[in-house]
Amino acid sequence: MPEGKQTFYITSPIYYVNDVPHIGHAYTTMSCDFIARFKRLDGFDVCFLTGTDEHGQKIERSAEIAGVSPIDFVDSVSVKFRDLASKMNFSNDIFLRTSDSSHKNYVKQIWKKLLENGWIYEGKYCGWYSVRDEAFYNEQELVEGKAPTGAAVEWVEEKSYFFKLSAFSDRLLKFYADNPDFILPETRRNEVISFVKSGLHDLSISRTSFKWGIDVPDDKEHVMYVWLDALFNYLSGIGGDKSRYWPADLHIVGKDILRFHAIYWPAFLMAADMKTPKRVFAHGWWTNNGEKISKSLGNVIDPISLINQFGLDYVRYFLIREIPFGNDGNYSEPIFINRINSELVNNIGNLSQRVLAFIQRYCDGKVPNFSGVYTSEDESLLELSRSSLEVMRNLIDAQELNKAVGVIIDLGSAANEYIDKNAPWHLRSVDINRMNDVLFTLLEVIRVIAILLQPILPDSAQKLLTNLGKSDLNFSDIKNINQLFTSGSALPAPEVVFPRLTSSS
Ligand code: MSP
Repeated sequence: MPEGKQTFYITSPIYYVNDVPHIGHAYTTMSCDFIARFKRLDGFDVCFLTGTDEHGQKIERSAEIAGVSPIDFVDSVSVKFRDLASKMNFSNDIFLRTSDSSHKNYVKQIWKKLLENGWIYEGKYCGWYSVRDEAFYNEQELVEGKAPTGAAVEWVEEKSYFFKLSAFSDRLLKFYADNPDFILPETRRNEVISFVKSGLHDLSISRTSFKWGIDVPDDKEHVMYVWLDALFNYLSGIGGDKSRYWPADLHIVGKDILRFHAIYWPAFLMAADMKTPKRVFAHGWWTNNGEKISKSLGNVIDPISLINQFGLDYVRYFLIREIPFGNDGNYSEPIFINRINSELVNNIGNLSQRVLAFIQRYCDGKVPNFSGVYTSEDESLLELSRSSLEVMRNLIDAQELNKAVGVIIDLGSAANEYIDKNAPWHLRSVDINRMNDVLFTLLEVIRVIAILLQPILPDSAQKLLTNLGKSDLNFSDIKNINQLFTSGSALPAPEVVFPRLTSSS
């Protein structure tokens, strides 16, 4: 275990295995991956969990439709999520499956604890349930006979165990007030608070009309409500609340599942005498050419085909950079191509290619001889590079992910302006020493850009570093500016890192 490092525990939701992964799933986990990689490079002891949510009526029905047993069904779909994680180059430390016996045993212990603490009682549930959302709704919440999400609901009347959620309203409201950063973005926080203020009902936490779930201890007639089972994955995955990673620093979730994470989850934890997580951040949803993504509309975007078409790092980049984290956003091919070409190809790619090709051609492929003295203009560009890390760090800690990436792009723009202004191609005939200093300064800046790009573009950043004759630099190397290049040492012939995209139509 890394001694003395501060821990950072980040989780994605665990995905329902009723369907194959799509861009929305890739998005949620990608945002976690970006943050996890950033924190590792910044010296934290990171644990990043993702996985699959495999129980409940929705999955049982999907298995039935597929004509296979639930366990065979979940085994085959879960693997697709695991494959996506490796194809997307996600750096998760844990891939949790709720069908694993260690998870099931853990949740059974939790059930006993909640029972012992007096928070569970037996009764009968009569009300609406949406299998698609795996959620209970009150009559007042329905919109034209459907769930507020548009999902179909069905009337359920069955014996059930209940969790005394209503007893937690005041504690939750106090918790939100004492921890103003627990729910972000702020608009979402206000929605949650007004929902809790409107009055919480006790929550049905077991079902008797189907079988595919974790058995309730000592009552085989019931299986647990899938959300009680699923939420505790964040603890079962790290071996319980005594783990050094608990409480979690950040749960990233989509806006559709915020209620479960911001209301039920802390209430369950309070009821089990456990610490509550530090933050839940709810991100927005992707649409396809402006339309909601759904199987029935036939417009589901498959992340694997995007990778095949555009390349992995471009997909990773687009997902994070295109929309302010927390807002909804739209995918279309022209938007994608424009974003990549304008920022990665024309800005960062052009910068490094200009400098490195010039050095190959006019400096014999060697690091130019640095005079040892920077001008104030050089210094201000170098200072911008050094300070970029701190600016990015603050944005990452506030989950302003697209702005955090923007810091690197702004640095690239500043470096491009510096080249244009200092014109090394002109200096070559009038002041070779100044030309060398300008190129040397630019090498340092490109190095910082490559280091900062690592969490979002791990492969491309590595290629960029290789072009500079470096590898695997972490954030502590940023402040050692002017120390990592040796004048006169050979640089490899640069390879193109960011090829230009062209439209497929
Ligand atoms: N199994 C639950 C989560 C349990 S966590 C203890 C679940 N699974 S899900 O597979 O339906 O959705 C997982 C995530 O994918 C959610 O965060 C959801 O917001 C996200 N997305 C699904 N479609 C999406 C888009 N079109 N756009 C962005 N994200 C979306 O809910």
